[in-house]
Amino acid sequence: MAKLTTVSSFLCLFFIISFICIQASNAANYNVVRFGAKPDGKTEATKAFLKTWESACNSATASTIYIPKGRFLLKATVFRGPCKNRITVRIDGTLVAPLDYRALGNSGYWILFIEVNGISIFGGKLDAKGAGFWACRRSGKNCPVGARSITFNWADNVVISGLTSINSQLSHLVINSCNNVVVRNVKLIAPDQSPNTDGIHVQTSTGVTITGSTMQTGDDCISIGPGTKNLLMRDIKCGPGHGVSIGSLGKELNEAGVQNVTLTNAVFTGSDNGVRIKSWARPSKGFVRNILFQNIVMRNVESPIIIDQNYCPNNQNCPRQSSGVKISKVTYRNIRGTSATEEAVTFDCSPSTPCSGIRLQDIKLTYMKMAATSSCKNIVGTSSGELMPQSCI
Ligand SMILES: *[C@@H]1O[C@H](CO)[C@@H](O)[C@H](O)[C@H]1NC(C)=O
Repeated sequence: MAKLTTVSSFLCLFFIISFICIQASNAANYNVVRFGAKPDGKTEATKAFLKTWESACNSATASTIYIPKGRFLLKATVFRGPCKNRITVRIDGTLVAPLDYRALGNSGYWILFIEVNGISIFGGKLDAKGAGFWACRRSGKNCPVGARSITFNWADNVVISGLTSINSQLSHLVINSCNNVVVRNVKLIAPDQSPNTDGIHVQTSTGVTITGSTMQTGDDCISIGPGTKNLLMRDIKCGPGHGVSIGSLGKELNEAGVQNVTLTNAVFTGSDNGVRIKSWARPSKGFVRNILFQNIVMRNVESPIIIDQNYCPNNQNCPRQSSGVKISKVTYRNIRGTSATEEAVTFDCSPSTPCSGIRLQDIKLTYMKMAATSSCKNIVGTSSGELMPQSCI
């Protein structure tokens, strides 16, 4: 009798394990090579990628799209949802854009995900080959608008993990009108002098977390646009680049605000700015509130801490009014290191809507081994702890 029980429990276990295995293999797996993509970097793989996407998107069970080692040539491509279930994209290979920058044309995007709920992207390398486009812009010729490398529009529950992107024409990664997005361990790289190659741009999005990432770019490492709420950035390396920027804001009169943004544990190296808030000097209903910048190291940064409400790059067509963007409740805590200019702390707030509730705590920024300076306009707040430069608030 005992023997029979043992045998039957073994059988039982066997069936349970087989059942689990069958369930697991039910998760549909789609390899782009099986849909005709060639990993040679020369044969256009756009159609094959789209066919793969269609199958995954129509799969009733969760599915995985697999992009193996090799180089896949991809033109401007839209991966459109909604899909029937979650999709995981595993990338071991490199996606390359056509060498001729005009091929991405005036689309504004290279790889675009629209209305996808539940997408995770693991690994992968993007090479947008932006140099031709930058050269066109520098020469002042008539150039196409340019393409952002990877964009998510109206996407929810997104994970982007371990992605590397080099030489984007414009921004590397754009998160627009999304909810609940995790970006971790990404590397975004473009030359120091490449125009408008922001690392990550977030706007009109709630619940975005960016951790463990490195940005070396020609524009903002992370730029935060109107309508951003509950954004957390942690363990960030920035530079070269223009720093982490909230704004530019106040482009429009009716503009959504930015609130609850935290940057913690960051290192800026040789960047133009560290933490920056910028708005145009014109009327706006926009605002910035509940912001925390803490535990930050500055290494040779030109403007480590700056609020600029007279933002006007290149001094062209400046509005020359007073910014309506209300900036309040911004805390700077434990920010240390070196400034590449004498003025390490700059608060140039709006005369019509002054900055309020600005807190400085434990700041130590030096310039040429001496205390740096600070300047304040139209600002109220408090300061505490060790303060170098002396607080002007
Ligand atoms: C602020 O954002 C964080 C995510 O960074 C979130 O956990 C927290 O709940 C938000 N706070 C409020 C008051 O919404």
